[in-house]
Amino acid sequence: MAVEQREPATNHELIRVENLHTQFFTEQGVVKAVDGVSFGIEKGKVLGVVGESGCGKSVTAMSIMRLLPEPRGRIVSGEITFYPPEGGTVDITGLDRHSSEMRSIRGRHIAMIFQEPMTSLNPVYTVGDQIIEAIQLHQKVDKDTARARAIEVLDQVDIPDPERRIDEYPHQMSGGQRQRAMIAMALSCYPSLLIADEPTTALDVTIQAKILRNMRTLQREYGMSIMLITHDLGVIGQMADEVLVMYVGRKVEQSSVRGLFHNPLHPYTQGLLKSIPLIGLRGKKLVPITGSVPSPYNLPTGCYFAPRCPEATDQCQRESPPESEVEPGHYVSCWLYK
Ligand SMILES: Nc1ncnc2c1ncn2[C@@H]1O[C@H](COP(=O)(O)OP(=O)(O)O)[C@@H](O)[C@H]1O
Ligand SMILES: [Mg+2]
Repeated sequence: MAVEQREPATNHELIRVENLHTQFFTEQGVVKAVDGVSFGIEKGKVLGVVGESGCGKSVTAMSIMRLLPEPRGRIVSGEITFYPPEGGTVDITGLDRHSSEMRSIRGRHIAMIFQEPMTSLNPVYTVGDQIIEAIQLHQKVDKDTARARAIEVLDQVDIPDPERRIDEYPHQMSGGQRQRAMIAMALSCYPSLLIADEPTTALDVTIQAKILRNMRTLQREYGMSIMLITHDLGVIGQMADEVLVMYVGRKVEQSSVRGLFHNPLHPYTQGLLKSIPLIGLRGKKLVPITGSVPSPYNLPTGCYFAPRCPEATDQCQRESPPESEVEPGHYVSCWLYK
């Protein structure tokens, strides 16, 4: 592991992403999928990442996991630094993505669950065999111990009768159970960071709420950090401590959940809030944000949100806004606050 003597920016941080630029080099041109994003995730906290489809949420996660389809998609600059709970510093951007260090980080320290569990569970192996394999890949334990641990985690995610269900194939489980099995697999190695990319989007609302509650409980029990990616601010309100709002590869606002819901600053965040059915706001008219996310090949000059923004001025059309801290810990990139 690449251990340096450098201390984290605050010693509460588990990971820090600094000025990350991740791009795709395609026939039509360069896609700046992540365009200068910085944030940290504190130990034992949930960071929600929100934004419409195409805003760079998944690519941010894939950059941390070093799972980009390189060389077509790659980190062109910036730093991702991981501070393992046992001490030391790992320069994730400096590692070879195929190295044993990076493979050990993936799975053991940082686990990821994807939106569609069918694509991440292998249909030809039982759910149990896949969890046992994941455990044995990262921990020196025998098969019986790994199996006992697999049953334990399946039980923790509320799979009924886990001693029996462990030997089922993915297709024998419902969508909700498969997603819970994926979460169990991610938890089986006691990761310090779980990256959950739209983990419940494909599920119906009641199962979604149940899985999220369950994840939150496990997160507290394990003292784990979560990076929770979603396009749904309702999920953020239920789950997160801190929120990052992304728009076209850039961070437009960052705040505590309280700060964001009580005092949303960016017109984009305000638009997102008006467009979702929130608890307590039931009955209020939902107003979708007009227009759509611009094509990455044809970006507006100035603030990327200006063409859709009800408050845009000439300056917004011309220049992109710098970030400012409007109240302690509440950051926004918008000319209204300069
Ligand atoms: N493999 C890829 N090749 C080219 N462009 C990609 C690829 N993956 C993602 N992108 C582009 O990167 C941008 C960010 O995508 P993504 O992170 O998936 O958005 P989100 O997860 O917020 O919906 C989008 O413009 C998307 O089209
Ligand atoms: Mg995505």
